[in-house]
Amino acid sequence: MNEKAEVEVYRYFPARDKIPGYDFFEVPFSEGIKVLDVVQHIYRNLDGTLGFDFCCRNSGCGLCGVTVNGDPALLCRRPAEKKMTIKPLQNFPVKKDLKIDRGRFKNQLSRLRLFLERREKPAEEPEKIDMAAFADFKEASRCIGCLNCTAACPAYAENSSHFKGPAVFVQLGRHFFDPRDEISRDLMALSEGVEHCWHCGACIEACPHDLRPQRIIEKIASIE
Ligand code: SF4
Ligand code: SF4
Ligand code: FES
Repeated sequence: MNEKAEVEVYRYFPARDKIPGYDFFEVPFSEGIKVLDVVQHIYRNLDGTLGFDFCCRNSGCGLCGVTVNGDPALLCRRPAEKKMTIKPLQNFPVKKDLKIDRGRFKNQLSRLRLFLERREKPAEEPEKIDMAAFADFKEASRCIGCLNCTAACPAYAENSSHFKGPAVFVQLGRHFFDPRDEISRDLMALSEGVEHCWHCGACIEACPHDLRPQRIIEKIASIE
């Protein structure tokens, strides 16, 4: 039997459209296909003007975040369903359809000196690493910058000037927790608004890689 999925897709091109709308598509469906397969089918066969981002197809590049039936998701990871509404990630300006503008996030990261800052040489070579001290560093290092957590964050939605969003703190946390890093990142965390987290857990629910941004934020705030 030829199964079908009914898909509603958000459409908005700010340079042309006064208001956003939705287009409806019927596409082939089989168990195990991903939402990315659906979106690519639409693009290749039904509407080549559809805007969306992806690259690796393997949950690694962080470019394909969208909202599927109300939840933040990666196009390449989320299994398709027979009825779907696909929208761009919330809390970000839309560039075109499902593509969001990631410029603000990139600018935020560029301010944070996200590289290992060392002033002194290690006491010995090769340097001895205490792996227990690296546990938080390793968790934060798995972040792919997909912004699903920030899309789910009510504190960021309410005031993104005060609270720069969980993805920023996970990226900062990687260096904050690195025992080899020698600059003080406390002031950076404060200036990004670490104390304005609402501790609601939505970012943990949203992360496709099972990171715990809330825990990372709370740990940064407690170390300050
Ligand atoms: S726990 Fe904090 S960072 Fe996470 S979604 Fe809630 S307010 Fe945002
Ligand atoms: S913490 Fe998770 S949801 Fe947030 S940007 Fe990183 S990988 Fe994506
Ligand atoms: S295409 Fe790279 S994370 Fe989905």
